[in-house]
Amino acid sequence: MARPEIYKFFSEYVYKHTGILYKENDYYRLDSRFNTLVKDLEVKDVDELYNLYIQKITPAMHTALIDLCTNNETYFMRDLKPFKALAKEGVEYLKETFGQVLKYNFWSAASSTGQEPYSILMALESFGTNFDLNKIDMNASDISTEALKKAKSGTYTGLEVQRGLPANLLIKYFDQVENDWKLKSEIMSRVRFSEFNLLTGVFKSNHYHVIFCRNVLIYQDVENKKKILKEICNSLKPGGLLFMGAGESLIGVDIPMKQMELGKAYCYVKQSS
Ligand SMILES: C[S@@+](CC[C@H](N)C(=O)[O-])C[C@H]1O[C@@H](n2cnc3c(N)ncnc32)[C@H](O)[C@@H]1O
Repeated sequence: MARPEIYKFFSEYVYKHTGILYKENDYYRLDSRFNTLVKDLEVKDVDELYNLYIQKITPAMHTALIDLCTNNETYFMRDLKPFKALAKEGVEYLKETFGQVLKYNFWSAASSTGQEPYSILMALESFGTNFDLNKIDMNASDISTEALKKAKSGTYTGLEVQRGLPANLLIKYFDQVENDWKLKSEIMSRVRFSEFNLLTGVFKSNHYHVIFCRNVLIYQDVENKKKILKEICNSLKPGGLLFMGAGESLIGVDIPMKQMELGKAYCYVKQSS
């Protein structure tokens, strides 16, 4: 247990920079994070850590704190249905709605360690009708530099590939490297990863055909959630699709998007104005 002003200081800092809310009854979830920082920054205890942070926060200290305070839980083909629907009914929908385009612009807007954007590409190629991945411009971003580092490495443990990834896709798209599994470059090289803070970043306007923004807004308060979703809506082309996490919705958010059943999944479509 740390002193109340320590929890207050760190939770306010994290909220200000990420929008992630650690409410008073969640303060205990900061304890293990403090312990990791104490070890990594080689200070004596949490009091000394606090003294260090209130004096001056260097970019490295900022990154270490933000990396620790994000929840990077993810896995391949998470919730499965959106990936299957996108690969079959989604591809048909995109062709009908946008006609002949050079490329479809996709964005995985909180991609964590990369399983989501890689799953999208594997699904498009292997669940549907062998969709030509050259027609996809796949962007992925996250606020956590550690998560992005792992995503870019394309290397996952045995446990990580066992979570959600069908065995035939493991064989098709990965090479075993000692105890780990490394994605083949034919998929890895197709994803452009970058650091992007959904709260403060400058969004591209009217650009994307498909955005995945899943399991990230649950950590935001109502006002921030509305702000981010407004930007995401502006970032989609009219007719573009938004996939949210299972149990997430646009209820109470006033933006021109309508829910649509796509195969066995649900997504939102940006309405033409
Ligand atoms: C639980 S993971 C979800 C990953 C993936 N979308 C999925 O559904 O499996 C949430 C991710 O959101 C990122 N995140 C949290 N706040 C963010 C913000 N303000 N801007 C961008 N990414 C953020 C975290 O770093 C974390 O990797």
